[in-house]
Amino acid sequence: MPKIVLGVCGSIAAYRAADLARDLMRAGCEVRVCLTDSAQKFVTPILFETLTGNPCLIDTFDEPERGRMAHLDWARQADLLLIAPASANTINKLANGIGEDMLTTIALAFEGPMMLAPAMNPAMYQHPETQASLNNLVEHGATLIEPTEGDVVAGESGQGKLAGNAEIVGTALALLNRSNLLAGKRVLITSGPTQEPIDSVRFLSNRSSGKMGSALAQAALLMGAEVKVIAGPSMAIYPRNAHVIEVRTAEEMHKAALAELSSCDLAIGAAAVADYRPSNPQEGKIRRSDDAISLDLVPNPDIIAELAKSGKRTVGFAAEPSTDLTVAIAKIQRKGLYAIAHNDVSNRGIGFESDKNQITLIRADGVQETSPLASKLLVALWLLERIAE
Ligand code: C5P
Repeated sequence: MPKIVLGVCGSIAAYRAADLARDLMRAGCEVRVCLTDSAQKFVTPILFETLTGNPCLIDTFDEPERGRMAHLDWARQADLLLIAPASANTINKLANGIGEDMLTTIALAFEGPMMLAPAMNPAMYQHPETQASLNNLVEHGATLIEPTEGDVVAGESGQGKLAGNAEIVGTALALLNRSNLLAGKRVLITSGPTQEPIDSVRFLSNRSSGKMGSALAQAALLMGAEVKVIAGPSMAIYPRNAHVIEVRTAEEMHKAALAELSSCDLAIGAAAVADYRPSNPQEGKIRRSDDAISLDLVPNPDIIAELAKSGKRTVGFAAEPSTDLTVAIAKIQRKGLYAIAHNDVSNRGIGFESDKNQITLIRADGVQETSPLASKLLVALWLLERIAE
């Protein structure tokens, strides 16, 4: 049974760590909790002791087993150190090697994988010191689950909400069971929508959120790959240890993808590239009149089909409005793909904009398999395990 030390810091989101501990236990892990001083203002050790059946550490000199220094004992026994919620204070201490409470002392003694799920006020999150510390920790191998955007306490909103438990648990399990199938491989991912200008202020686009591309990037990193993402405009937050190239139009995405092709081993087209663009985008603004107007559209380059011509393993996505696989199967042939992931976007619970997905992977050799309906990260890991072999 994998052993997780769950570090809980002083944040309103500390209450969510109770559910998180339970979810990790339901997923088959043994959980031991360590609270910082400020965490105890929000939650109590007895809550976690009762939930987990294990002692909860709070003070650096706590010694649940007499004669065994707990910070070393717990660090040696743990398979994963997960800090959720991680506060700015603890993040900045960790990045500077400071061990001045039980949690940061365990972190110093721990040699395995560390995961951080921050939660804090958006200004504290964006503070240059916090950002520099996070970059430093990620560079040294920590896995970061970026906080999400939304309403936070005190009537503010921004990036600072603790990520969803499903994502945190999914990532923890992925870290514990990680296959290094992509170690040493370079993965290129196109992600998000494209915007095709009609005039200087208007464009044609689609509902792609970029979340699947972001999940694929995180999954590929967890599996040991070096990752480049060519990202169309979206609110998606990409892992900071992926190299992200931002583009706007399909033509820009095409150019960037071809430029990166020689330095990749595997290409995945998760972008919802606009098939057509206005042939003649206007300078300035098209003015309103009573006359009907029409847009002349010309086809965009088929990016994934061109990447596939290189002979490198190339995998596409087929966002289809039904469960019928016929069109997806035809795309494998037409685009010269190794495989395609069929995504039924008529099902509102999965696909575009949703945090969940379910795909059917169809390989060029005809083999088909359907993923579980799960978080996009878990689906991404499922997919990569099948195409990395
Ligand atoms: O042709 P269709 O858009 O249905 O195919 C979807 C797949 O092809 C996706 O993997 C998408 O990223 C890719 N694609 C592309 N360039 C286009 C259109 C689609 O790379 N112009």
